[in-house]
Amino acid sequence: MINACVIGLGQRGRGLVRDVLMKIDSLRIVSVCDVYEDRVNDILEILKNGGQEAKGFTDYKEALAVENVDAAFVFTGWEGHASIAIYAMEHGIAVASEVGCEYSLENCYNLVRTQEKTGVPYMFMENCCWGKDELLATSMARKNVFGTVVHCAGAYAHDLRNEISYGLTNRHYRFRNYQNRCCDNYPTHELGPIAKLLDINRGNRILTVSSFASKAAGLKEYIKTRDDATPEMQNAEFKQGDIITTVLTCANGETILLRLDTTLPRSYSRDFTVRGTKGLYMQDTNTVYLDGEKEYWETPEFVRNNLCNAKNYEEEYLPKIWKDVTPETLAAGHGGMDWFAYKAFVDALENGTPMPIDVYDSATWQAVAVLSEISIQQGGAPQAMPDFTNGQWFHRPRLDVCEL
Ligand SMILES: NC(=O)c1ccc[n+]([C@@H]2O[C@H](COP(=O)([O-])OP(=O)(O)OC[C@H]3O[C@@H](n4cnc5c(N)ncnc54)[C@H](O)[C@@H]3O)[C@@H](O)[C@H]2O)c1
Repeated sequence: MINACVIGLGQRGRGLVRDVLMKIDSLRIVSVCDVYEDRVNDILEILKNGGQEAKGFTDYKEALAVENVDAAFVFTGWEGHASIAIYAMEHGIAVASEVGCEYSLENCYNLVRTQEKTGVPYMFMENCCWGKDELLATSMARKNVFGTVVHCAGAYAHDLRNEISYGLTNRHYRFRNYQNRCCDNYPTHELGPIAKLLDINRGNRILTVSSFASKAAGLKEYIKTRDDATPEMQNAEFKQGDIITTVLTCANGETILLRLDTTLPRSYSRDFTVRGTKGLYMQDTNTVYLDGEKEYWETPEFVRNNLCNAKNYEEEYLPKIWKDVTPETLAAGHGGMDWFAYKAFVDALENGTPMPIDVYDSATWQAVAVLSEISIQQGGAPQAMPDFTNGQWFHRPRLDVCEL
């Protein structure tokens, strides 16, 4: 049995406790923490209604000091992740850290060095690495269906104008981030699965980061349309550009294109794209296009009738975890991805096996935000990505998040 401490009980923490953590049989939540007491009491009530009992705190150090805590689940806003994770690891407590971005390379290094020094398990909980589309395409890439992969692209494209604008009222961390910073502040939903596919930190690595920001107009204009906007909202200025475009180069010659796109009207998309010498996968239309099919794809009728054709490849290439997916898993948050990710952490902790997304992945993926901020300030100038593995990437073996 794993004794868990949950820190950060906002939207994400609440959902994960109720829909995922309380349903994992081998996990028992023994302490919960948020700086807001009402959020602590809410979660204690949810636990109580589910027949579970935990201790509540407003100081995470006290929550982690509860006897026999084995694992810390860190669901705070981005600024809190590293310091809490480092404190937990220093106290021998394994860490499952929600996703986000970092603010300095120093923080990234501290995470890595603390994990190396303590040997305490740490996992970065990028649930999109378990996305059905991403895993189908990765499985096809592993079987050489796309030939040599030379380019991948992705986006975090999600209309968050409401969540961000009302951040002061809702006590949400994104508001202050969008006010004070301009960068790709949320790169990992798309970069995580791409980094896995391209074996980043395991035979390959990211060399440079170049980013460009559009102007910031979306939030200001959105707030003008809101009758209930507070004076603080109306007067707020935002540094965060509406569209951030980032290009990464890799040691093995691939390029990666990322887009942060959260403050203009649009539909949700991760836009996961894989381009190889023998074909492509495009998530937005769920399309596979293979070499040799050119004559078909050149008629508009064929294109219209065959978009979404990736389902034809599922029988041969979809990983087993998705073929066997249950309605309970699908219902447990983000269409099943949350269950897969959190179960993978618990399984690795129980079995003493490597975390499928480790501290080197966390540092590298989150450092993209740090380097994109500097690159934007320098007109898009490429910034060197540190090698957090200290040369270990030469020989670290591939580690997929599930059997492909
Ligand atoms: N993987 C996903 O699909 C997904 C989806 C949503 C959010 N997230 C991530 O989850 C995290 C939380 O997001 P959210 O929307 O719930 O934010 P939120 O602002 O609603 O909740 C964060 C909570 O953490 C608390 N907190 C902050 N610092 C703390 C500290 N030092 N000690 C104790 N509590 C502290 C805040 O008071 C707040 O209640 C973020 O990192 C976000 O990126 C991931």
